[in-house]
Amino acid sequence: MTPTLAPFPLARPRRMRQSTSLRRLVSETHLTSDDLIWPVFVRDGHGEIEPVASMPGVVRRSVDKIADAAKEAQDLGIPAICLFPYTDISLKTETCSEAWNPDNLTNRAIRAIKENAPDIAVMTDVALDPYNINGHDGFVVDDQIVNDQTVEALVKMALAQADAGADIIGPSDMMDGRVAAMRGALESAGHQNVTIMSYSAKYASGFYGPFRDAVGASGALKGDKKTYQMDPANSDEALRMVQRDLHEGADMVMVKPGMPYLDICTRVKQTFGVPTFAYQVSGEYAMIQAAAQNGWIDGHTVMMESLMSFKRAGCDGILTYFAPEVAKYLNG
Ligand code: PBG
Repeated sequence: MTPTLAPFPLARPRRMRQSTSLRRLVSETHLTSDDLIWPVFVRDGHGEIEPVASMPGVVRRSVDKIADAAKEAQDLGIPAICLFPYTDISLKTETCSEAWNPDNLTNRAIRAIKENAPDIAVMTDVALDPYNINGHDGFVVDDQIVNDQTVEALVKMALAQADAGADIIGPSDMMDGRVAAMRGALESAGHQNVTIMSYSAKYASGFYGPFRDAVGASGALKGDKKTYQMDPANSDEALRMVQRDLHEGADMVMVKPGMPYLDICTRVKQTFGVPTFAYQVSGEYAMIQAAAQNGWIDGHTVMMESLMSFKRAGCDGILTYFAPEVAKYLNG
């Protein structure tokens, strides 16, 4: 449908833009705290809150402080929190066994959140990079990222997270066959109600730089992730990845990064009509914060505009480091 306007001056589109009340009346898209998933970084220790240099306003928290933050998020009406561990270098190995340790940082944080803020959904990340001495999301054998062995490890990791109480498992590794393997293992283990939000269309992006600093993986990473993450040139491939993950048992899908891939968000939502999320990643966040700190943009305006763009593109929700700030603002 291509709507046509009456000729000027019968139609004066500016009539409907003249006041806040008229603009509110005809606004097509709404952002609420229901749309937010808050990614947070967990570190060891007790009572620790430590800034992440490359992400102004973002911190790493010890498990006790994560529990406090989850309670605050729950009180702000944020429906979900997503955990990323900052793993000490001494725990990074080639076998990545810390990834499925029932008492690793993520699993301890899940249990602490469940105790302190039982109504917020806890999402986890499934990929080996925080635990891998090579910084890759999969095992490295003879300079190759091996697929099937990695999937076996990811299944163990996902099961440990589900055992700890995770509500949403987020495979971010981009190995083939991982969603089916995780879904099967969850069913067999009695975790049939654990949901999967697959990072289905995850691109090999330069926008993850500040995140790798936040989880302590920047130094570790040798090479790039182009043999498993997607080529930024591709769009049809994203639809194939989403279709595959849905067939393998994903409940929700994600596009990542966010703003440079809004076209993908729209195609995914229009093609499949399933719960579709975008991840406004660390580099997107850092660019907005850096420009705002320099006085080059108005940080608040750009934050709201960027998040609205995801809703306009068709997303059901957004993973964003701005979540608490936005929720506070939206709650007045
Ligand atoms: C790990 C993972 C990454 C992000 C989320 N999970 C980094 C990567 O793939 O290198 C990036 C998130 C961000 O940049 O905010 N597989």
